[in-house]
Amino acid sequence: MVVQQVKNPKSETNPFLRANFAPVSTENICSELKITGNIPKELSGRFLRIGPNPVKHPDSKSYHWFMGAGMVHGLRIENGRALWYKNNYVTTNNVAADLKRKELPTPRKTRGGSVNTNVMAIAGDLYALVEAGSLPVKLNGNLESIEHSDFGGTLNYGLSAHPRKDPQTGELHVLAYQPTKPTVDYLVIDQSGKAKTKSQIHLPHQPMIHDTAITANYIVVLDFPVTFSLLTAVTGAFPYVWNNKRPSRIGLLPRDGDSTKLLWTEIPTSFAYHIMNAYEDNDDVFIDVVKNAMNFDAKIEGQNNLAPSLVRWNINLKSGKFSETVLSDRPVEFPRINDAYVGKQYRYGYTATFTSDLQFGAACKHDLLKGQTLVHDFGQGRRTMEPVFVSKSGAVSEDDGWLLSYVFNENTNNTDVVILDAQNFEGEPIATIHLPVRVPFGFHGNWIADGELS
Ligand SMILES: [Fe+2]
Repeated sequence: MVVQQVKNPKSETNPFLRANFAPVSTENICSELKITGNIPKELSGRFLRIGPNPVKHPDSKSYHWFMGAGMVHGLRIENGRALWYKNNYVTTNNVAADLKRKELPTPRKTRGGSVNTNVMAIAGDLYALVEAGSLPVKLNGNLESIEHSDFGGTLNYGLSAHPRKDPQTGELHVLAYQPTKPTVDYLVIDQSGKAKTKSQIHLPHQPMIHDTAITANYIVVLDFPVTFSLLTAVTGAFPYVWNNKRPSRIGLLPRDGDSTKLLWTEIPTSFAYHIMNAYEDNDDVFIDVVKNAMNFDAKIEGQNNLAPSLVRWNINLKSGKFSETVLSDRPVEFPRINDAYVGKQYRYGYTATFTSDLQFGAACKHDLLKGQTLVHDFGQGRRTMEPVFVSKSGAVSEDDGWLLSYVFNENTNNTDVVILDAQNFEGEPIATIHLPVRVPFGFHGNWIADGELS
């Protein structure tokens, strides 16, 4: 258990330190959790999330959501029972120093920054991940940090928080970058957890590349006008800023990594953190993204002009023509799909409501065939983070599964884990596991079935 020096969030001026963005002050282990409904017996594993949770109260003026120390949260489910909820810091060197804990073993010097953006299983082990240079942190099944990992000496720099798993090969496809390095690496991680650098893409303007996607033949490279600023970095503020001098463009890099065949398409000024999915259909490449008009403009205080919108970008490979179609009129973020459809034609996506004033809310199911957005409103004051689709074994259709999410309840100041039937999306939840604690709004998570861990 940790005691922090957190100010009263009510007096806080920084939105990323207020309300349910505020960090929690303890590492907990909770059992005998209250359950409403019935947890499907088929679900045995861990439902994990990660997000920022600064140990010491940061400077309210310069703190950005992306900068806080990583904290991993997990609910252990087995055979219809909820065994425990835990939350632990990811013990990177900054956390170890603040909490007076031992630094983790590391194969080599790593950037000591926070690892706070995604948690997933890679080759049988759990890892906390972040972009921009810090090594992944290996966790054990109790969500305790074990070591920094360079995947057996195969990872030259850091990784990314958004590897894309090819459902056919089981390989992970990653774009990794770090500040001051003029190239972005295209890595493929094989099923044994070894990374191979397939290509180095020369991008000396050092863009922030948060996410990627794969299609049958390409990996998608997002190159937007948000680039590294040394001048900003030295102030201690978040070091990526809007850069009017840069165009917005999409790269399609052949999956063999041949960067001489990298195809760039310039598009209207845009920014996007997340791609929902991408796929090819004959000469057309479709890339479904949550688009922002712009972001990180230093002239505007705080997170700005997010106005997230789910859109489909279409690049015709023969004509080079680009077009955009709006897929939903709701402001959403944190898109997920049935992961068996990564890189393929698909019908359904799932998102969390996320408004330009940083309000989470209902979950959405997007039927891209019908052009319809279904909404699951969890009730007054209940706000979901990124929903995660879990397919049933023997599923007979794309949406034959469950949607799991951490839902903050501002009436109780606690968080529930809610399980929806994805085919009865607007109906009553199948199960709600009531946590006796609050899980701060964070970034990403995954359902890790027991069979995924060695
Ligand atoms: Fe992300």
